[in-house]
Amino acid sequence: MSSPHQRRPILAANWKMQKGAAEATAFAAAFLPLVAGADSVDIVIAPPFTALDRLGQALSGSAVALAAQNVNPEASGAFTGEIAVSMLRELGCGYGVVGHSERRALYRESSDFVAAKAEALLAAGIRPIVCVGETLEEREADRAEAIVAGQLEASLARIPQDRAAEVVVAYEPVWAIGTGKTATPEMAQAIHAFIRERLRALYGATAEIIRIQYGGSVKPENVRDIMSQEDIDGALVGGASLDPASFARIVLFQEPEATQ
Ligand code: 13P
Repeated sequence: MSSPHQRRPILAANWKMQKGAAEATAFAAAFLPLVAGADSVDIVIAPPFTALDRLGQALSGSAVALAAQNVNPEASGAFTGEIAVSMLRELGCGYGVVGHSERRALYRESSDFVAAKAEALLAAGIRPIVCVGETLEEREADRAEAIVAGQLEASLARIPQDRAAEVVVAYEPVWAIGTGKTATPEMAQAIHAFIRERLRALYGATAEIIRIQYGGSVKPENVRDIMSQEDIDGALVGGASLDPASFARIVLFQEPEATQ
């Protein structure tokens, strides 16, 4: 059976502040043979900065892409502790995560800052994975759509129409991250459809090819139901991506031959 998606699925691991260079290399050695036949999906791994170089070497020659978890929009200069896009490009990063809810909440990153990061990544030829998502309080106050729309529009403000197809949007409801609580596939689909509607307003027909990932307690047991939804084009996976067998199962469930 062919994939229900007109958009190529993209399964991304966000390791957050977990795995140094040695662990990342060991992960690659175990993971790559497991996904060797997975050629109808994009697979991405975002390790901590310190593991990018060695993980990139371990992944070279494979179809698995390397991603950064963050970036600074400035080209260079006196920004202690920060990393520029040129440094990521030098290490072969194909993607960069920006606007993750942990950065928005813990480090007070605004959507304007996220927009500058996304613009800088694209200028360097690195595809931004732009994260949006509401908190539990916001959802309970019936503000989920307003929050997501506000974050989306402000975070994409510097992405012109002719580059929009290179962007990946990740919808991650904050209440589902690391909690074991997943949005039901129907609930996730509803907000993904809403996001696509907003993307149509921003980018017209290009919205049909922009991939929208779901994130929040994705695991092998629920990935198929989540991915079966019309407007869900991938997953951004935290906890369940740390184990090679677990992340491989998530990736392989996207293969057409694995669906009935
Ligand atoms: P979990 O998969 O651990 O819930 O994390 C989701 C996430 O934040 C990915 O960016």
